[in-house]
Amino acid sequence: MSAFPKLTDLGWRRRLRSRILGWYDRHGRQLPWRASSDPYRIWISEIMLQQTTVAAVLPYFERFLSQFPDVQTLAAAEQSDVLRAWEGLGYYSRARNLHKAAQTIVNDCDGRFPESAEQLQQLPGIGPYTAGAIASFAFQQPAAILEANTLRLFSRLIALEIDPRGTEGQKTLWKFAGWAVSRKRPADFNQAVMDIGSQICRPVDPECNTCPLLASCKARENNRQNDIPVAAQKVVMTDLIEVAVAVRRSGRYLLRQRTEAERWAGLWDFPRFEITEAEAEALPRIQKQRSGTARHSGQRSLFDMETDDSPEPTAWPLSLQDRFRDITGLNPVDAAPVQEIRHTVTRYRIRLLCFQATADSGRILAGSGFQWFRADDLHDLPLSKTGRQLAETLLTQQASRKPSKRSRP
Ligand code: ADE
Repeated sequence: MSAFPKLTDLGWRRRLRSRILGWYDRHGRQLPWRASSDPYRIWISEIMLQQTTVAAVLPYFERFLSQFPDVQTLAAAEQSDVLRAWEGLGYYSRARNLHKAAQTIVNDCDGRFPESAEQLQQLPGIGPYTAGAIASFAFQQPAAILEANTLRLFSRLIALEIDPRGTEGQKTLWKFAGWAVSRKRPADFNQAVMDIGSQICRPVDPECNTCPLLASCKARENNRQNDIPVAAQKVVMTDLIEVAVAVRRSGRYLLRQRTEAERWAGLWDFPRFEITEAEAEALPRIQKQRSGTARHSGQRSLFDMETDDSPEPTAWPLSLQDRFRDITGLNPVDAAPVQEIRHTVTRYRIRLLCFQATADSGRILAGSGFQWFRADDLHDLPLSKTGRQLAETLLTQQASRKPSKRSRP
């Protein structure tokens, strides 16, 4: 199943460590969170780097730290301010856990980070990888790490022929990571294996010829580098259609904070619900459509309109009006398409059909959580990613309709 080196093969391990550290001294990336051993900075960077690339994290990292420079400031912040600072990074449970963990560190640990991987894992949002990263980078503990890049690198190094994400594969790789990590320079070793994994030992076409670990790699020895790590079972994607409605009354928009039980908990969103394909077909279409516009899915979009067309208000099918009333208590009128957003959430591929409408009468359903917000409030409110896209479109449209005083003669 794998060519796991014998745990007694200390010569193999010594050569591996020396190749890894020698390469890091010459080629390791200089990244802002590597310049310090402050556990707070390291923790923030590692949470941001979960499921997010280095390039995407860079602009957020310094901005977040200037807003929340230490664990005390973060613990004392409002959750909505933390979520707002996180907006765009996605996976918002990371931000909520960050906030909770900061409060635990301040209230229960006197503001000091625990130093061992085991203790760090007691904090919300800190799993085995992040605990190992903080323990090794901040406290020079010889802790194991395993994330996407090291998983691939280690699987190839030991020619792991089973699913590296399955129980057995994980057990083998964690054991290998703990055995291999340098006792003298654990931080550099762990940063180095992440760099070699992401820069050289890439998923497709690994650069074996420039790899410092060529002579240690069992997959390469057997010409298996393109087949390892072995593929996990494919996720079956499900297509969904949802509607989001920006309902306005006296210049205010209707939004609701998503609950703990929902995706994007804590973020605010416009009323939104799932509809069937038949309901989508029955929605009002914009009259003037680009001729012959066909989507890759074969579906014609409601929103394939000439770009300079103003959307025409139309009546919604009764079934959707009822659904909207059940959720909000209000009756939308003059519904007009605004845009279509395609996005993916876990195993769902979602076509989100966004409308604007007015609701001049009626009262918000008690207990629904909906509230009215002025357009200006939307800037500071933490919104879901698609909520932000819709808000931006509406605010841009609104701004382009307002005659600018300065441009008047
Ligand atoms: N991905 C996760 N943690 C990282 C780190 N410290 N450096 C580079 N990439 C990473």
